[in-house]
Amino acid sequence: MLCVAQEKVDALPSNIREKIRLIESDMCNINFGEQFGLIIMTFNSFSYLLTLAEQKNVLEKVLLHLQKGGRLVFDILNPEQGRYTDRHSGTASFLKLSGREWKNPNTGNRVVEWFSRSYNLVDQVMHEIQIWEEVAIDNTSLTRYYRDRQQRYSFRYEVEHLLANIGFNLEAVYGDFSFGPVTPTSTQFVFVARKES
Ligand SMILES: C[S@@+](CC[C@H](N)C(=O)[O-])C[C@H]1O[C@@H](n2cnc3c(N)ncnc32)[C@H](O)[C@@H]1O
Repeated sequence: MLCVAQEKVDALPSNIREKIRLIESDMCNINFGEQFGLIIMTFNSFSYLLTLAEQKNVLEKVLLHLQKGGRLVFDILNPEQGRYTDRHSGTASFLKLSGREWKNPNTGNRVVEWFSRSYNLVDQVMHEIQIWEEVAIDNTSLTRYYRDRQQRYSFRYEVEHLLANIGFNLEAVYGDFSFGPVTPTSTQFVFVARKES
């Protein structure tokens, strides 16, 4: 992903390019030795922090990296909409076709997606297995790419309490990326949290 990002950076005018640094790092260990006015953690990345200790550690480090009055903006999926809503269903753990399929751009073959999910409802952790299976024109199965991941789903007010506990002031919670309000059908929550000025 960083290679693709670097190609996009290389195509920018030099006055913008020189302001951008791409750094590969575990968010649990960030230590840049400087502070920023804005930190963004996008597209449910927060859900990869599987324990309260990991969540607190990252948020404390983010606070240290923010200037006074600086903002942290991040989003999580609403656990009551979309992914994670199958957590109370006994069928969630069966391996099944997701219905998504596409063409491998390199080979032109069809790729079909399989997945299964299992949940630890006490720890709010989902374990998902995804299999991308490449199928030849004669329907022979050619290759299976396998992905195994865990995510912790969080509820809105759980995150609000956590942010307050770490020392953030919550400026806003949106239900989408266009500053829309949180509604019962919002698929995500977007938090804007500020460091005291
Ligand atoms: C849903 S993707 C978000 C995609 C990406 N952030 C973007 O803006 O396109 C979540 C990303 O978080 C990354 N991630 C998971 N745990 C991480 C960690 N401890 N430190 C840094 N990144 C992590 C995953 O590798 C994945 O790329």
